Amino acid sequence: MEDQSTVGAAGVPAVGLGTMGLDGDAGARSVTDAIEMGYRHVDTAQIYENESVVGRGIAAADVPREELFVATKVWADNLAYDDVLESTAESMAKLGVEYLDLLYVHRPIDTYDPETTLAAFDHLREEGQIRHVGVSNFEADELDTARAHLDAPIAAHQMEYHPLFTRPELLADARDHDYAPVAYSPLAGGLVTEVDDVVAVAERHDATPQAVSLAWLRAKGCAVIPKASSAKHLRSNFEAARTLELDADDVARIDGIERERELFPE
Ligand SMILES: NC(=O)c1ccc[n+]([C@@H]2O[C@H](COP(=O)([O-])OP(=O)(O)OC[C@H]3O[C@@H](n4cnc5c(N)ncnc54)[C@H](OP(=O)(O)O)[C@@H]3O)[C@@H](O)[C@H]2O)c1
Repeated sequence: MEDQSTVGAAGVPAVGLGTMGLDGDAGARSVTDAIEMGYRHVDTAQIYENESVVGRGIAAADVPREELFVATKVWADNLAYDDVLESTAESMAKLGVEYLDLLYVHRPIDTYDPETTLAAFDHLREEGQIRHVGVSNFEADELDTARAHLDAPIAAHQMEYHPLFTRPELLADARDHDYAPVAYSPLAGGLVTEVDDVVAVAERHDATPQAVSLAWLRAKGCAVIPKASSAKHLRSNFEAARTLELDADDVARIDGIERERELFPE
């Protein structure tokens, strides 16, 4: 079953495969399995050092390139103008694609300069090498600055979001500007099994805590990119994100959790 639902004006597929840590033949196999079971959005990054693995997984899948939404991220040391262009060309070669659906600024640090970095992203988009521009790990003021410099609209903001770490003000910015909030580490890297309120909601629905975490994020309007290796986890995440519906009380209960864990502080 294909994933048809999308988020934001750019139409980012609502369920994607996170690939951080997928490596080697087994990692490529996970990517192929995910695509063949219906995932259409694949998320990687230069810093994961697995773009070739992800590319092999994409190439082996029996799904045409134009049906896929392939996203990668330019790491913090490649954000000078020429380095954006060169490293993106390398990323595309490793991924085996002639264009990217979404290219993110991974973090606004180090060589990031809004004027020159984002000019390079605009250039890539004008040349047709990328379809959409995204940002990741930005704060509200950094989103404003990016909008002031970009010709392209921001299509997606990838941010840490799970029951133990939320940024409601950033979700509101996404809603106000009609771009996709993409929740990374949507299972809190596996920690959702230890969160009592998530476990309780899961028991009520005869579901797993992982499924509930994904359903809660979808209810909040986020796209989700859970990482999984086994076919069993890939399939259960895909199904949960598309079909499990929480009621308002469930969502409120998870919203009310006392937050304690940011997994990826700067
Ligand atoms: N933009 C950024 O700065 C940034 C930072 C971090 C992550 N990300 C992106 O977000 C993606 C996801 O985040 P993440 O990798 O940190 O963690 P995550 O998706 O929250 O959790 C992944 C962990 O949960 C396990 N898992 C997955 N599905 C499961 C299921 N149904 N039942 C039980 N366990 C399950 C996985 O194990 P198995 O592999 O064994 O299935 C893995 O250990 C990354 O892969 C990456 O693409 C982006």
